[in-house]
Amino acid sequence: MLECRVLYFGDIIGKPGRNYVYQQLPALREQYRPDFIFANAENATHGFGLTLVTAQELHQHGIDGLSLGNHAWDQKSFWEEIDQLPYVCRPANFPENTPGRTILLQEYQGEKLAVINLLGRAGMRSSLDCPFQIGQKLLQTLQTQGVSNVLLDFHAETTAEKYALGWFLSSQGILAVLGTHTHVPTADERFLNPQTAFISDIGMCGPQNSIIGCKIDPIVERFLNGKPNKLEVAQGPCVLNAVFLRLDLEQHRALSIERIQRIED
Ligand SMILES: [Fe+2]
Ligand SMILES: [Fe+2]
Repeated sequence: MLECRVLYFGDIIGKPGRNYVYQQLPALREQYRPDFIFANAENATHGFGLTLVTAQELHQHGIDGLSLGNHAWDQKSFWEEIDQLPYVCRPANFPENTPGRTILLQEYQGEKLAVINLLGRAGMRSSLDCPFQIGQKLLQTLQTQGVSNVLLDFHAETTAEKYALGWFLSSQGILAVLGTHTHVPTADERFLNPQTAFISDIGMCGPQNSIIGCKIDPIVERFLNGKPNKLEVAQGPCVLNAVFLRLDLEQHRALSIERIQRIED
């Protein structure tokens, strides 16, 4: 057995989310002793998208890899910047010729571990290739290249699509399917088949007194009377949501999945 320990943070929201993650990292490192730390960073810059500078900051704080989602290009400069960042992967089912890598490869004691990212289509606005077919192809390509340890950040709206893709890719040997995007953690962490760790949504790292990380009143008004308010990252104490995975890279299976939550006073 070759045990590898992974910490994966759900969507980090703006500066409050980043700062709370940085503040909590030393204690989390001590408690979980992760070999790799990954995070969904699609909301890391002002709540919408990512920039080179924010990605570098997250990486300098010890986050080994960053995945994205539907907000990947909200900061327009990022389209030009992403190729400079070897530790960022974008959804693999964006149209062909989209910049950015689709696989993050890590080495651990002679074994390889890949992180991939896909976007769901149910209830999402963008036009995307099929996450099932693209995911299957990517997994098969990696497996034929000798990379049999693959984690997926599935950035999607509905639990049904998350379970469907989870079961589908589990039957093909994926080690973990971790949901992101809703910013709300689900309490359904479990195994699909004996080797695949699964959770519908990790939840966010961002302001607690908010609507999925954003200020409350502008969103309530949007629902109440359709006022086209701009959304802004909320302030105040944060919540941190993550999962901790133990993987066996020799037997190509997950060993455990644990939900982590920290709440700022
Ligand atoms: Fe998000
Ligand atoms: Fe999202």
